[in-house]
Amino acid sequence: MTKDLFEKIYKNKGPLGKWADLAEGYFIFPKLEGPISNRMKFQGKEVITWSINDYLGLANHPEVRKADAEAGEKYGSAYPMGARMMSGHTDLHEQLQNELADFVNKEASYLLNFGYQGMVSTIDALVSKDDVIVYDVDAHACIIDGVRLHLGKRFTYKHNDLVSIEKNLQRATKVAKESGGGILVISEGVFGMRGEQGKLKEIVALKKKYNFRLFVDDAHGFGTLGKTGAGAGEEQGVQKDIDVYFATFAKSMASTGAFIAADEEIINYLKYNLRSQMFAKSLQMQLVEGALKRLDMLRNMPELKEKLWDNVNALQQGLKERGFDIGTTQSCVTPVYLKGSIPEAMVLVKDLRENHGVFCSIVVYPVIPKGLILLRMIPTASHTMEDINETLNAFSSIRERLENGTYKRLSASVAAAMGE
Ligand SMILES: Cc1ncc(COP(=O)(O)O)c(C=O)c1O
Repeated sequence: MTKDLFEKIYKNKGPLGKWADLAEGYFIFPKLEGPISNRMKFQGKEVITWSINDYLGLANHPEVRKADAEAGEKYGSAYPMGARMMSGHTDLHEQLQNELADFVNKEASYLLNFGYQGMVSTIDALVSKDDVIVYDVDAHACIIDGVRLHLGKRFTYKHNDLVSIEKNLQRATKVAKESGGGILVISEGVFGMRGEQGKLKEIVALKKKYNFRLFVDDAHGFGTLGKTGAGAGEEQGVQKDIDVYFATFAKSMASTGAFIAADEEIINYLKYNLRSQMFAKSLQMQLVEGALKRLDMLRNMPELKEKLWDNVNALQQGLKERGFDIGTTQSCVTPVYLKGSIPEAMVLVKDLRENHGVFCSIVVYPVIPKGLILLRMIPTASHTMEDINETLNAFSSIRERLENGTYKRLSASVAAAMGE
């Protein structure tokens, strides 16, 4: 008899699942309740929410809620049925694509049901086995999974490290010359954990020396960076040199769905070859109409982005003035690095939530080096100066308790349970 497939699952719940008993419901799968906003409820208490990617505060904006409700009333949640190619294509899908392409200064765009699948599928469609992929080692899981499908060579470069990028481009060039393929470089516009922008300008400059195409996942840059909000490429003055641009609706657009944008010929190829769209139901109309409304607001309400950046600057400046290490962020993503163990981090976050009413995400080893705690905050246009000041005071208090050993003492039993 062969082994039961589930045997390994019974024994090992995976790298995150192993924390379930200690963390589920609080640190992992917490339930935030009430309307999406700067303050929500967690376990019955009001908290300032710093963990929602609603950059422009659109999620609960009355105009957005109205547009979503009207579209729901008009179309229900089924329309249109079928994949785009078969029976799921409409004028509004086309209109949204044209408007998105215009907004990000590309010839054409194509809608994706989900950013994650769309990225995987776009990478899959862009390369064949003779091609070589060169990508940042800190890439988002959707890039890593897209690369996993690739049957040819791939090289990772050290995060945002130009020497490493060039070294790997040299390697890739050698392989591609032998195989007869081309090179795809993939970077994020903004790296979502630490907030650094991808070195797009410098990567583009390397096009003079090496022959490659650049694919940028700008999930966090779209709507937040650049003069018009067109993203990290616009911010760095290289939007036209990004060969394929990607953004999701899950952040600034406060919705679901995503798109890619590129030259018309490339989009025409992709729309016939993106397996995630060819073999899956079309983006539902409520989301399409909702995205048209949101895009209209991105274009015509620059005050949303201005408010977002006022808040980002106040929070980041305030943290720096109080001596916090916020790393090298160049975006709205605001990381705070503290020194401590995982058990200390757990007690610290509990203190933040229970006693200070501050809810932010916590990131620990193996995502960041052992001994570091990363508290990640996402300021939005709906935060207020009061939220920021309360949070800064809370941070000063938790740092004091971390440094004077309070959390170490309080976490001794958790540490013992975890075998730390
Ligand atoms: C960098 C990046 N790429 C892609 C995605 C996936 O997008 P979606 O949520 O639309 O699947 C995310 C997360 O939302 C992301 O942060």
